[in-house]
Amino acid sequence: MPQVFAETDLQKSNQIFVVTGANRGIGYGIVEKLATQIENGIIYITSLKESDGKSAIESLTKSLGENKKSELRCHQLDITSAESCKKITTHLKECHGKIDVLINNAGVAFYLETIKTLDEKYEKGWHSMNVNYFGTKQITLNLLPLIKPGGRVVNICSQLGKLQHHNNLKYTLKLKNAKNYEEIEEVIDFYMGCLKEDTCTKNGFHESPYRLSKSAEIALTVLQKKLFKDKGIKFYAACPGYVNTAMTLFKGTLTIQEGADTPTWLATNENAPDGVLVFQRKIMEWY
Ligand SMILES: NC(=O)c1ccc[n+]([C@@H]2O[C@H](COP(=O)([O-])OP(=O)(O)OC[C@H]3O[C@@H](n4cnc5c(N)ncnc54)[C@H](OP(=O)(O)O)[C@@H]3O)[C@@H](O)[C@H]2O)c1
Repeated sequence: MPQVFAETDLQKSNQIFVVTGANRGIGYGIVEKLATQIENGIIYITSLKESDGKSAIESLTKSLGENKKSELRCHQLDITSAESCKKITTHLKECHGKIDVLINNAGVAFYLETIKTLDEKYEKGWHSMNVNYFGTKQITLNLLPLIKPGGRVVNICSQLGKLQHHNNLKYTLKLKNAKNYEEIEEVIDFYMGCLKEDTCTKNGFHESPYRLSKSAEIALTVLQKKLFKDKGIKFYAACPGYVNTAMTLFKGTLTIQEGADTPTWLATNENAPDGVLVFQRKIMEWY
């Protein structure tokens, strides 16, 4: 009976954290840090494949031993799937009623050098937009009603999304000052049109869709801070740095623990700055 579990959880748990794409890489590192810092909380490892979440719990439980202060749970989540986002939202609502912190870590990247045709670049470009921007927006909007006043949303963005990487004043200003989602998405649409026509450079955009997707994700963080300020929920944008994960083909110069530091700090520190890009616990200009 779900109600019975819900009551038990509400009594024993202090804080509920949900980390997307947490079966490996930086997300896994964030869970590892939270589990040793948060007393008596519940941390959700969400993963595309349910079995990957279970394996992550097993390996963290083993490696952390007595240093693990919170309970780890897992749930399947594909942030690009409306059905999957709805399922986890229903699950969290039934089990806990409310959550404290959502950490949007799930993301994808690809290497331009590996692309053979313009069609392939366009298809992978859309995938980057769909996961990094639209997926992040979708899971956030699903879970927002469950986030307690005083709660947080931490988006793992990137300094590769800084607007200085593009040379198109009209569209970068639109991202910087976006007053609604449509303005951000207009930029994505224009950029994707350029990608299709192979005119990114001519229009002053960096050729990498990953960069534009991360610019849009930072713009989303800044916009949602404005849109939801009356709800008392804070929105943070973290750059983890160049981290040694599958995404960087394990060439990153920072360890996963180092990369997880700023996102975890933003998720837990009272004085961390919101609505700005933060790298190594310091504000970094993104425009
Ligand atoms: N590594 C860096 O140097 C670096 C630098 C700046 C920013 N970042 C950002 O940090 C975040 C984590 O990167 P990472 O280096 O840890 O990458 P990673 O090792 O490739 O991990 C990415 C995670 O996202 C998951 N994922 C992919 N698509 C998803 C979807 N549609 N729904 C839910 N989960 C999905 C992956 O699941 P599977 O395991 O099933 O594929 C995986 O768990 C990303 O947002 C990335 O853009 C990374």
